[in-house]
Amino acid sequence: MLHSPACERNQQPILELLCQWLPPAARVLEIGSGSGQHAIFFARTLAGLQWQPSDRRETLKDLAERIAMEGRVGLAPAARVDDPLELDVDQTDHWPEQRFNAVFSANSCHIMAAGSVENLIAGAACVLGSGGLLLLYGPFQDGGVHTSASNAAFDAHLRSLNPSMGVRDAQEIGRWAQAHGLRAKADQPMPTHNRTLIFQRD
Ligand SMILES: C[S@@+](CC[C@H](N)C(=O)[O-])C[C@H]1O[C@@H](n2cnc3c(N)ncnc32)[C@H](O)[C@@H]1O
Repeated sequence: MLHSPACERNQQPILELLCQWLPPAARVLEIGSGSGQHAIFFARTLAGLQWQPSDRRETLKDLAERIAMEGRVGLAPAARVDDPLELDVDQTDHWPEQRFNAVFSANSCHIMAAGSVENLIAGAACVLGSGGLLLLYGPFQDGGVHTSASNAAFDAHLRSLNPSMGVRDAQEIGRWAQAHGLRAKADQPMPTHNRTLIFQRD
């Protein structure tokens, strides 16, 4: 099974943030679920949570394995983790018809090409109900400036692997969100120079 040490480090601070922002019994679509650890961890704590994990086809088998093994027992009362969806943000026909209270994605914006991040935002705006939230966790630049030396080094490393990857700019993300009808609500600092950018559908 896929395993992410980063998820183990960031899951508790992200959980605390979700407790603060999600409505009770929220229905959440996760983009780029990866190992599925976040889905399981949050659904073990948040009563009534309905979590829809998703990822691209190449990751789906491993993700589905974890959800099948860990997502059916030991969850908080009335919490549910659905079978993962195949969802590539660049494929308009992959986005579900249902409406969600929130779209969440962790550490995916710097892996996706910039155009895919805009597609993520556009897709999220379509599946969010009125007042729904988009929450993007990860490292972000500010107006082209890195917020730490470690983020700058990480960005250089990503770009050396693949020039289309890289730590995204929070201000640019804010402009894309606004263009798709999402209003900036918060920019929450998280441990180790990460942030969660939160937007709301009007
Ligand atoms: C660094 S991993 C993060 C996984 C998980 N969210 C976490 O926090 O451990 C980045 C994820 O983004 C996904 N991803 C990359 N490009 C994508 C795309 N175009 N559409 C959907 N997911 C994508 C990858 O498959 C991968 O699961």
